[in-house]
Amino acid sequence: MTLKIALLPGDGVGPEVLAQAVKCLKAVEETFNQHFIFKEAPVGAIAMDKTGVPLPDTTLTLCKESDAVLFGAIGDPKYDNDPDAKVRPEQGLLQLRKELGLFANIRPVLSHPTLLDKSPLKKEVISGTDFVIYRELTGGIYFGEKKLNPEGTIASDLCEYSENEISRIAHLAFKAAKGRKKKLTLVDKANVLESSRLWRKVVTKIGESYPEVALDFLFVDNAAMQIILNPKQFDVVLTENMFGDILSDEGSVIGGSIGLLASASIGEENALFEPIHGSYPQAKGKDIANPIASILSVAMLLEHFGLAEEAWAVKKAVDKSLKKGIVTLDLKENSQYGTNQVGDFIAHNIVDIEDDFRMNDENIDLGKSTII
Ligand code: IPM
Ligand code: MG
Repeated sequence: MTLKIALLPGDGVGPEVLAQAVKCLKAVEETFNQHFIFKEAPVGAIAMDKTGVPLPDTTLTLCKESDAVLFGAIGDPKYDNDPDAKVRPEQGLLQLRKELGLFANIRPVLSHPTLLDKSPLKKEVISGTDFVIYRELTGGIYFGEKKLNPEGTIASDLCEYSENEISRIAHLAFKAAKGRKKKLTLVDKANVLESSRLWRKVVTKIGESYPEVALDFLFVDNAAMQIILNPKQFDVVLTENMFGDILSDEGSVIGGSIGLLASASIGEENALFEPIHGSYPQAKGKDIANPIASILSVAMLLEHFGLAEEAWAVKKAVDKSLKKGIVTLDLKENSQYGTNQVGDFIAHNIVDIEDDFRMNDENIDLGKSTII
């Protein structure tokens, strides 16, 4: 299979982690006889510095012409604390999601057996957690009308949803639940919000065509509590844009580090894959950012194109790095492994997936890894 992949490294640690993801894709090419054509383009603060806008037309065109987009991270502190900034790097990502029609954001939340100690939550609470968040990504309060009165003293953001926006992601979520533990939880605030009541109505109706899936409902405040109280109760969590943003960061605590969570954003014609962590500007250029979320985004990309064996090899290689402790500082105190070395190790192990636990670790330990 030949795939055209647009690389959008973006800001902060984005370029560093994305470079590791690309190493892994090259390892997949080498091992499985696939072919990937990479083209890179600027987005975010880096694009604003170069062109004045966070999503240049050339970047958007490249993304539209590609089979998939691999995204690094976005955001720069120089814009974060300036409420008067007219343009923000994040707008580049939001515009990209909208323009590419990426309405479904899929964020798996898993506890890794080797990392149970890394979470501040109790082992017995998180062990065995395996759920996936289906977050609506192109509607709701993120994209509704925004107002600020001329005096700058009253502001509002409209949260609007249409039946169609709800039903297209609901179908994807029900189908996912069918192939998993057959449970779907709709998270909303239907006791207060009209838009949430529409979600309930539409999702309940669609649920009738998926009789094998058990459907239940949770208010978002309760869901926020349940996710850390008893995360094993969840299978597929379906929710609107902003609730999904918040709950997925909360879910990352279960995995032990936000540096592990990958995501896929899917539309009718396009797909984008990105770690859920932000640009982590404090770590930029220090070779300490965890590349695993970016590498697992590659696994989601491969799965999306039906390359199941390839995706499995990537996940297996990541597991091995976790088991062997070839991980960055966020996962192991005093770890001497940097972003690059972890990326090398995982890429190596995609190539040598059959060799299991014997090969080349010494080279990695000595910083002499040779891949790519
Ligand atoms: C995310 C991020 C984005 C969002 C930001 C960077 C706009 O937090 O992907 O979760 O809020 O969707
Ligand atoms: Mg977020």
